[in-house]
Amino acid sequence: MLLKFVLASFVLLSSIRDGSAGMTSSFVRTKWPSEDMPVDHEVFAIPKGYNAPQQVHITQGDYDGKAVIISWVTPDEAGPSHVQYGTSKSNLQTSKEGTVANYTFYNYKSGYIHHCLIEGLTHNTKYYYRIGSGDSARDFWFQTPPTIGPDTPYKFGIIGDLGQTFNSLSTLEHYLESGGQAVLYVGDLSYSDEHEFEDVGLRWDTWGRFAEKSAAYQPWFWNVGNHEVEFMPEVFCVALVENVREKYSSPLWYAVRRASAHIIVLSSYSAFVRYSPQYIWLKEELARVDREKTPWLFVIVHKPLYSSNVAHYMEGEAMRSVFESWFVQYKVDAVFAGHVHAYERSYRYSNIDYNITGGRRYPVPDTSAPIYVTIGDGGNLEGLASSYLDPQPEYSAFREASYGHATLEIKNRTHAVYNWYRNDDGKRVPADSLVLLNQYW
Ligand SMILES: [Fe+2]
Repeated sequence: MLLKFVLASFVLLSSIRDGSAGMTSSFVRTKWPSEDMPVDHEVFAIPKGYNAPQQVHITQGDYDGKAVIISWVTPDEAGPSHVQYGTSKSNLQTSKEGTVANYTFYNYKSGYIHHCLIEGLTHNTKYYYRIGSGDSARDFWFQTPPTIGPDTPYKFGIIGDLGQTFNSLSTLEHYLESGGQAVLYVGDLSYSDEHEFEDVGLRWDTWGRFAEKSAAYQPWFWNVGNHEVEFMPEVFCVALVENVREKYSSPLWYAVRRASAHIIVLSSYSAFVRYSPQYIWLKEELARVDREKTPWLFVIVHKPLYSSNVAHYMEGEAMRSVFESWFVQYKVDAVFAGHVHAYERSYRYSNIDYNITGGRRYPVPDTSAPIYVTIGDGGNLEGLASSYLDPQPEYSAFREASYGHATLEIKNRTHAVYNWYRNDDGKRVPADSLVLLNQYW
């Protein structure tokens, strides 16, 4: 343990740029095929019983973690929309009524999508819940987060661009081993839009059943990616957004507080220029952040602001030019992004001195800047983005084209341990580690 800490501290020291070069990992993995698992794979199994609830997932339902939104799909008919819950498995004494809706996409008719907001929960408590009825009822549980507080430990997982291939399965299984308590999801969920016609809807359903293993038991904080918004030329509509809006019920940008962290979720695919709704909202939300109560400030967004991968190069540049100065001003601890199907972590760099007439146009070391992590390496069917710009830019600390996930374990108001785990042909191998020192304390 001590050795692990010393090693991690060494990595930290090297993360505040000291003239040492960044590292491009030479690891080359043996790839499993980048194709979706067959629909009859056991991870997509439909639960037994008539109209049994499936695709169960939860997310935080309020600002401070005393509410959850429970969502699920019933395939055959609407059925009951209520959730029975309680703190004892054998006594689910409380019931709350939810809502139900469905939609049509091309020839696909969705199942009945239920959402139920449960409020007034007690912090740091295990709740059991039941959905469905009769022989088809299904039981799950979740743990509410501790009360908001500056030294409250908490362990987040970070996953992006997951999809539903065998590599995706490896990532999810590795995350389940991690002891993470909630997932910061950086966008691009099912990749169902890579399929045609009614299979788009069917692949949302398989993905929902695949993710349930984790998402029914702990909140996933969703972020919208391009695969949730892209147009389908065949149908000229944005039904995929409907898919996400109906099934994942979060607005496109939002903020929550959990334990000792303030989490801001931004939308790369909504307007963010000056005076746009998202711009105004973020300005107000950053002013609301209270580092005395939540010392840790994280931002989730789909397109990376700093990435030296050839894929999607500079796509985040417009948002960087609008928001980066705020990230530095408010001392954001880390910005997590996806989109690029590889892994990269930056040093603390900023590029906020440029103006249209001045000459300062290069990123420079900046102790007030966040670290930028690109983690779109969940393992979807598009495969890896394995070409990086050469030479490695000075802001880039570590980069590797592999699949994996990360964990972020907050210890107290000053220290958090960050680990990125590579999927090493079925094994979960830590490949990039860092002790994060809080930017405020
Ligand atoms: Fe993407």
